[in-house]
Amino acid sequence: MALRQVRLVAGADLDGFRRAVRALVAAGVPPEEVDWIAADETSLFGDALPPDAPPLSLPRPVGELIRAAVPHRDPERYGLLYGVIWRVLHGERDLLEVASDPAVHRLEIMRKSVKRDIHKMHAYLRFRGVGGVQDPGPERYAAWFEPDHFILEAAVPFFAERFRAMIWTIVTPIGSAHWDRERVSFGPPGTRADVPVADAFEEGWTGYYAATFNPARANPKLMQQHMAKKYWRNMPEAAAIPALIRSASSRVDAMLEGEPTVPLKRKPEGALAAMLDQAPASLAELNAIIRAAGPLVPGATQAVVGEGPERAGIVFVGEQPGDEEDLTGRPFVGPAGRLLDRAMAEAGIDRKDVYLTNAVKHFKFEQRGKRRIHAKPTAGEVSHYRWWLMRELELIEPRLVVALGGTAVLALTGKSVPITRARGPTELLEHFAGYITVHPSYLLRLPDEDAKRSAYAAFVGDLQRVRALGEASAPRRTRAA
Ligand code: URA
Repeated sequence: MALRQVRLVAGADLDGFRRAVRALVAAGVPPEEVDWIAADETSLFGDALPPDAPPLSLPRPVGELIRAAVPHRDPERYGLLYGVIWRVLHGERDLLEVASDPAVHRLEIMRKSVKRDIHKMHAYLRFRGVGGVQDPGPERYAAWFEPDHFILEAAVPFFAERFRAMIWTIVTPIGSAHWDRERVSFGPPGTRADVPVADAFEEGWTGYYAATFNPARANPKLMQQHMAKKYWRNMPEAAAIPALIRSASSRVDAMLEGEPTVPLKRKPEGALAAMLDQAPASLAELNAIIRAAGPLVPGATQAVVGEGPERAGIVFVGEQPGDEEDLTGRPFVGPAGRLLDRAMAEAGIDRKDVYLTNAVKHFKFEQRGKRRIHAKPTAGEVSHYRWWLMRELELIEPRLVVALGGTAVLALTGKSVPITRARGPTELLEHFAGYITVHPSYLLRLPDEDAKRSAYAAFVGDLQRVRALGEASAPRRTRAA
């Protein structure tokens, strides 16, 4: 039996693979007759195969598995995928549901590994300023990252979205990506030496990390378990850790003698203080600081920053990101977010027009078996994150700020106020018109269906009032002090 050699471009050649699969299926070539080779040249899968074979009709989960597994480093990925595609097209339509099938099992492991790698890149990549004060152009940033798989193209849209206002380049051993504030272009691989060593911004947030580092929670083993050394090495805040851990026990003693909230309320000093005094000029800058600061309580995958137009008329403030938000890096995408979306749509509010954020920017949880159970933030944690929430509001200057639930009220007013009493328009927010309502997760927790229905109707009613109060005719409030 003559093997058909299919050459694909090195890395994650999704287009080449798709074209080759269509051609092979059209020509009736079974998996055992194909030899998949990932090479450096462009796809040369052969004159013998028709170049424009028609697209295949595959179940959606198969398409998703292809996208998710192609970036894996395993040279056998293409062969395994083609084997699965072939079987699905030849009668085993529900093959992916057979988790014990060896090919499905291996591909599932690859999918998870690629997904984890993308999350790590999103969470651990750090941009550094490039160019000095004498450089008159817009600020430029660069970052070095070493992914385990060929994930650059899959991971980069996240950065384009989050750091839209910056010009940046990401350099990796598998390729580079450049964002010019309009589009991403991909280029050749590079080395760590292509990225400058440190900048003032970095010094600032290393200082910040030191100021907020809680020695009582220092657990180097846990830190390293969550983060391989190759990531750690590239994170400026890591430079502060050994010294902080060395001084941890004396700092714990000092904490015990001092106020219980010392590390949360400690006033930042030095470079960071200067940076904070200046207040970030944009949400992108503010969000870069939040990301750089890292979680107060270890465990979160990444910071979940606010989402929505920079000049939104209405800002919704929730409590803290949940499990799905932590994994995706976006606020309100889990069960409570879906309920909020539905209620907003019924109230005539388009999610795209409003800004959604949280009082606390990192997920805190208790691990129970495989599940990560939401843990309510303490008042100290809420106060730690307050600085960011206030800067967000100052930058957006909304017409109306909506507090969803008690934690948001606490964050916005500094007071613990019962929602049942304060629900509705409020003057409690000093600088902004406010509205207080329940958190959508409260509706999800109600045990009986009737109570759920009427609570949901009341929530939609609140959102209708919110829409009216946030209409464009209302004035934007003055900046907070
Ligand atoms: N709950 C919140 O308060 N915020 C989120 O982003 C998700 C759930």
